[in-house]
Amino acid sequence: MTVSDPAVEDVVATIGRSATEIRQGLIGRRGTVDEENPSGEIQAEADVWADELLGDRLSSIDGVGQYASEERSEIIDTGDERVYVAVDPLDGSSNLKSNNTMGTVFGIYDEPLPAPGSALVASGWVLYGPITTMACAQDGSVTKYELTGGERTVVEEDVTLPDDPLVYGFGGRVPHWHDDFREYVRVIESNPDHKLRYGGAMIGDVNQVLTYGGIFAYPALEDNPRGKLRLQFEGNPIAYLIEAAGGRSSDGSQSILEVEPTDLHDRVPLHVGNAEFIDQLEDALE
Ligand code: F6P
Ligand code: MG
Repeated sequence: MTVSDPAVEDVVATIGRSATEIRQGLIGRRGTVDEENPSGEIQAEADVWADELLGDRLSSIDGVGQYASEERSEIIDTGDERVYVAVDPLDGSSNLKSNNTMGTVFGIYDEPLPAPGSALVASGWVLYGPITTMACAQDGSVTKYELTGGERTVVEEDVTLPDDPLVYGFGGRVPHWHDDFREYVRVIESNPDHKLRYGGAMIGDVNQVLTYGGIFAYPALEDNPRGKLRLQFEGNPIAYLIEAAGGRSSDGSQSILEVEPTDLHDRVPLHVGNAEFIDQLEDALE
């Protein structure tokens, strides 16, 4: 398997083409269903619907061996064995109720799941903001697109994080942060050049970092040592893209891409952003 496998491009193109439809399909699906996902979160109607839509489409692509999602416990195994796709169909779906930003996150691996981030060959996300955009990392470079009615238009190639980091956003309840993390946050926010940006959907907050430079973290918590975010569906894809854009990722001591998974739905403390911020963070958490 190499990054030039046409299955990779098919997966990216299918997600891009499906985005307008997913966006439209959110209407009338903002309620919850009486089910929890494998991480114990109440599912929205739209979570289940977007997962079914992407599961059907991505698992029927030639060369896709597996479709796995945050919203289902079992992997769809197709019998093919070239690429393996992990998806968070609607990241930040608790924002449906208030009509705020959400996204679709994907990782394309060349090893069966669960796999370490070092097995990623491409990753990215769709952002359902005022317009629909996509960021995609492949071959060590990041491209941004605008998505309209099935069309994917390049708006920027070789995207890198801006040199002067501007924004920060940190998830989890502050009383549950560890003291060393809290002190690190204080240093970041005491710099008058830095601004808080936090919207409750990881992908919206990470996209702020990609656009303006800075840091997003959902750290280890006193009551949740592995934080909240899922390694296969969220941590790895985000880390792969931010690293391809010249930034760094960390679970607190190493790149997220080096974390060995033990289970498909493993969580990981996630910190991504400009290298200098992540270096400082690792020093602070030592
Ligand atoms: O996917 C999990 C998620 O929705 C992220 O998008 C977001 O960063 C986080 O949960 C917010 O969770 P909470 O509001 O529970 O801190
Ligand atoms: Mg999510």
